[in-house]
Amino acid sequence: MASVIIAGVGAYAPERVLTNQDLAKMVDTSDEWIFSRSGIRERHIAADDEACSDLAIKSAMAALKDANMSAAEVDLLIVATATPDYTLPATACVVQHKLGVPPHATCFDIAAACSGFVYALEIAYGQLLTGRYKCALIIGAEKLSTIVDWSDRTTCVLFGDGAGSAVLKKVEQSGIGIIGSDLGADGELTEYLYTPAGGSRCPASAKTVADKGHFLKMKGKEIFKNAVRVMETVAREMVEQHNLRLDQIDLVIPHQANVRIVEALASNLGLPMDRFFMNIDRFGNTSSASIPIALDEARRSGRIKPGDLTLLVAFGAGFTYGSTLIRW
Ligand SMILES: CC(C)(COP(=O)(O)OP(=O)(O)OC[C@H]1O[C@@H](n2cnc3c(N)ncnc32)[C@H](O)[C@@H]1OP(=O)(O)O)[C@@H](O)C(=O)NCCC(=O)NCCS
Repeated sequence: MASVIIAGVGAYAPERVLTNQDLAKMVDTSDEWIFSRSGIRERHIAADDEACSDLAIKSAMAALKDANMSAAEVDLLIVATATPDYTLPATACVVQHKLGVPPHATCFDIAAACSGFVYALEIAYGQLLTGRYKCALIIGAEKLSTIVDWSDRTTCVLFGDGAGSAVLKKVEQSGIGIIGSDLGADGELTEYLYTPAGGSRCPASAKTVADKGHFLKMKGKEIFKNAVRVMETVAREMVEQHNLRLDQIDLVIPHQANVRIVEALASNLGLPMDRFFMNIDRFGNTSSASIPIALDEARRSGRIKPGDLTLLVAFGAGFTYGSTLIRW
């Protein structure tokens, strides 16, 4: 029996750090408000000349190095992002060229917002199992600072830039690597988190720019409630499907959107907070990059050991959600 394993993980965060104190000089807010409501202390912000693909490439190089593999071996490249370099073509093609992934590789982007990395994992997992591909590079990369309204205190305090990558391959061994994956979406909640302008519904114009239509609009409270609900549901379903108990999960890596969302999730699941890996204090919400950045930190800090069970749980704009169960 074959399995698909995560052979390497890597992450990259831009050099510039924007603290809550810095934000308090830009909008009417405070470190106390931001930290107590979200758990965030600081976030990384990409340089003007750093695009999504530049962040993606740096994290991909780290993941390939971790896997002891080269870009030449990659035949499936997926970039999950809400902030692509261009609306056309895919950022994956930009990454392919600059990274040296061969021309025969399949390269595309997926738009599943903050659930993008678990969506990419599921796609790569299925494709590798068929035998059609040998090595997948999946990347969650975001330059959210370009779609955040820096004069809107209700959103600008929450987001950051960054990228995380994983290299996946098939091995002839059973019961390791990705042992479960489950995705979902509820399109009825599309307008809970979206950028109204710049797409085909409302193309860019002088008016859309003046109206700030290219920036994120968010219904924070509604997202909060739905996030707790769907993450609890997917976590419970995943362990039930695999005849496990929640307390057998060694580490949960949740999407890092708000520490209070994770605290509510932990309480509903009856798990202690130390079972959840958190780094939101230093990164904020980096959307599709949040889980792979956290996964990279968790591995490098020794929070994941061989044989451990890790559960990734995500939710995001769409409203998308999903979970991945991994045995290391
Ligand atoms: C956004 C979020 C932090 C707001 O927290 P909250 O406890 O619901 O706060 P509220 O929206 O009730 O705001 C409370 C007050 O603080 C104010 N406020 C909002 N942002 C503020 C800020 N940055 N600094 C100071 N005050 C702020 C509000 O205007 C409101 O004032 P009012 O009571 O006078 O109207 C929270 O709802 C959240 O995290 N939601 C999920 C968002 C998310 O995860 N998005 C990404 C999904 S992938």
